[in-house]
This record gives sequence, C-alpha cells and structure tokens, in this order.
Amino acid sequence: MRVLTTIDEMQAACREVRRAGRRLGLVPTMGALHAGHLSLVRAARATCDVAAVSIFVNPLQFGPKEDFSRYPRDLEKDLALLNQERVDLGFAPSEEEMYDSGRSSYVTVEGLSERLCGRSRPGHFRGVTTVVAKLFHIVEPDVAFFGQKDAAQAAIIRKMVRDLNFDIQIVVAPIVREQDGLAMSSRNVYLTPEQRKQAVVLYRALMRVQTLADRGERRAAELIRAGEEVIREQPSAKLEYFEVVNSETLEPVADITSGALVAVAAQFGTTRLIDNVLLTGSGQAQGPEMKG
Ligand code: PAF
Repeated sequence: MRVLTTIDEMQAACREVRRAGRRLGLVPTMGALHAGHLSLVRAARATCDVAAVSIFVNPLQFGPKEDFSRYPRDLEKDLALLNQERVDLGFAPSEEEMYDSGRSSYVTVEGLSERLCGRSRPGHFRGVTTVVAKLFHIVEPDVAFFGQKDAAQAAIIRKMVRDLNFDIQIVVAPIVREQDGLAMSSRNVYLTPEQRKQAVVLYRALMRVQTLADRGERRAAELIRAGEEVIREQPSAKLEYFEVVNSETLEPVADITSGALVAVAAQFGTTRLIDNVLLTGSGQAQGPEMKG
C-alpha cells in the first residue's frame, strides 16, 4: 500500500489511476478501524480496481465538549490492517494539511443536518459534509463506501452528492455487529465492561421493533413506544432519541408501510452510541450482519 500524507501527492496518485482507466473506490474513515470498516474496504476491493482509504480524525465534526482529543488513534495499527486487506492507497493527512488556518468555506446540507444526531450535535453534519466534499475533490473516486450505522450521515451524503452533482456512486454497507448484537463502533472502546453489557439494550430495542413490524404493526408511535419500553429496562441508558423516520429525508413518519428507518441514540456514562434498523416496505427489517 502507498501511504500519502499530502493533498498534492494524493491528487497525483488518484489522477494516475483515472488516467489508466481504472475504477477507483474510496473508503473515508477516522481510523480506529474495526470489522465494520473492514467490510467497507472489502466491498471496495471487490468492486473497484483500486481501493483508497482515508484516515483523518476530522476536528470540524466534533463539538467543543465532545471527544475529539480522546478519540482513539493508532495510525500504525490501522495501516497494518489496511496492508493486510491489500488496500492500494492510504491517505493520512495532518490537520494542517486538510485545513488551512484561513479557510472560510463549508458544505452544509440544510434541513437534514438538523435531524436525529444533528439536533444534539449542532455543526456535526456540516463538519462531515465539508470533509467528505474535500475528500471527494481530492480523490475523485468512482464509488465511495459508508456504513449504515451512521444512517443519517449516509442520507446526508447522498443528498449532498445529488445536490452538488458529484459524479460518485455512494454505497452504504450493512451494520456489522458483535456476537451479542452491539453495533461495531470506534467508540465502543470507551465503555467499561459493565456499560459494554448494558449497551446491548439498543440492539434489543431495535429487535423488539423489528419483531412487531414483522408481525404487521405499522403505526410508528406504537413501535417507538415498544422500543422505548425496552430501553427503560436498562436505567443506566440515557435515551437521546428513538425515532421512526423516512430514510432519505429523515423526517418522522406516522406509518411504516412505505419503509422506514428506526434510529436510536443513547448515552452510557459519557459514551454516546447510535444504532438503527431499516424496515422495508413490507415491514420486514433487513437482517443484521454479525462479526466472525
Ligand atoms: O463516518 C466517519 O467515520 C466520518 O464521519 C467520516 C465519513 C470519515 C468523515 O469524517
């Protein structure tokens, strides 16, 4: 794998790939790679001629009281993993390289960016769309890969790509889960062993909703009531939201007949976790993908 740290080098390497007529896939990450990221990398390797992975902990998407300074970072380990996966190009720029101190331009997807996590994390999605737009300009990939765990992020990036005519296909890969159902997340390392056990309540609540939907329940209010009831069984979970929304607009829906995204966010101690399940038009949820 070639590891590049400057924008000029990365642009030149990607230009070469395009000139050779090869299909280029990009997996944007903030490092602290886990099986969820590796599933994206494998999808890129399987469908593209050249796989590029960016590793950049993006300060713009963290609020002043959030975990930017303690976000897990282990570049050496991440690069070793990407080497094992036979990634072609690694892009690991510094903060100074990505953000000129005089910058004043941002990319914002209005409306969607204030929904779900955007409500409690003002500016978060603006930070995500700004860095992703920059990465898209630097790499100019044919395809970019994102995880379904950040369902709102995926919807917002799809909207940005449509609105700004990026000629890039967006692939959203299923959530990868631990054996007990907890969604893989770089932030799971923050959990104490006790919180780690408690956090499975998110998956249990979503599975309760899936079961009810599979049995024919169509009323979003009823699904939310049932999901919240499961979360309340774990009093240490501080629920932020449990919502049933349209997976593209992120607006609440009253009825799931045309499909819906069921999304939850809760805090365990100081760690904020999110999870979701996509219900198809028939009410059936997409099956989970487990690790190992
Ligand atoms: O999903 C993430 O890890 C980040 O939000 C992303 C897309 C790499 C942008 O920093």
